Amino acid sequence: MPYGFGSALVACAAADEPVCGLAYTCPPVRLIDQYAELGRRGQRDLASALTELELLAVAEHTRRSGVGTRLLAAVEERVSRDGGRLLFAKIRADDRPVLGWYRRRGYRLAADREPVVIDVADAMISFDDGGDDYRLAVKSLDAARQVRRIVAPGGTYLTIMASSPVIPSRPSSAMSYRYGKR
Ligand SMILES: CC(C)(COP(=O)(O)OP(=O)(O)OC[C@H]1O[C@@H](n2cnc3c(N)ncnc32)[C@H](O)[C@@H]1OP(=O)(O)O)[C@@H](O)C(=O)NCCC(=O)NCCS
Repeated sequence: MPYGFGSALVACAAADEPVCGLAYTCPPVRLIDQYAELGRRGQRDLASALTELELLAVAEHTRRSGVGTRLLAAVEERVSRDGGRLLFAKIRADDRPVLGWYRRRGYRLAADREPVVIDVADAMISFDDGGDDYRLAVKSLDAARQVRRIVAPGGTYLTIMASSPVIPSRPSSAMSYRYGKR
């Protein structure tokens, strides 16, 4: 694989205690594969800029004691240290408690099919939830570039870009990942 593997963080109450929480992050592999136009180097740039939090789970008996918050903070710190600019998670659209949990931790929640746009390798990368009853929760790992919602002619989108590019109408493919040169 040209752009590395995922990585996991585990939480335990003590070194000899069982695992009570798990976070797994990985590059957005399907999205990267779709951007062959970026070339190997561009795909690697995309892999380091954008990270998916594939799994965050805390054992039921340990919930509401801060483990999830600490795991998420540790993930953000590690991804940021590795050069990551944007971290995102897909959450069930009907799971309001978890959507709120992310929002209270600084994540912007994308609306249904609302694109998220970032600039990587001199190109504009756009993706959304794929229209499968999940929502994207996104957070900038760069304190100077918070996620903003831009109102554009084709609809709104979320971005960490300093400028507000005009993006074409919403993604329509099943994968809902698009690419356009700036
Ligand atoms: C979502 C999830 C990871 C949160 O984990 P968690 O360890 O319960 O999270 P925390 O304890 O850090 O926070 C939960 C709440 O408990 C509160 N809390 C934290 N420490 C607390 C304590 N000592 N006493 C009482 N409440 C506490 C927090 O304030 C938080 O409420 P808030 O969101 O209103 O601030 C967990 O519920 C889970 O595994 N859910 C199932 C899997 C899932 O849905 N994962 C997310 C999709 S990727």
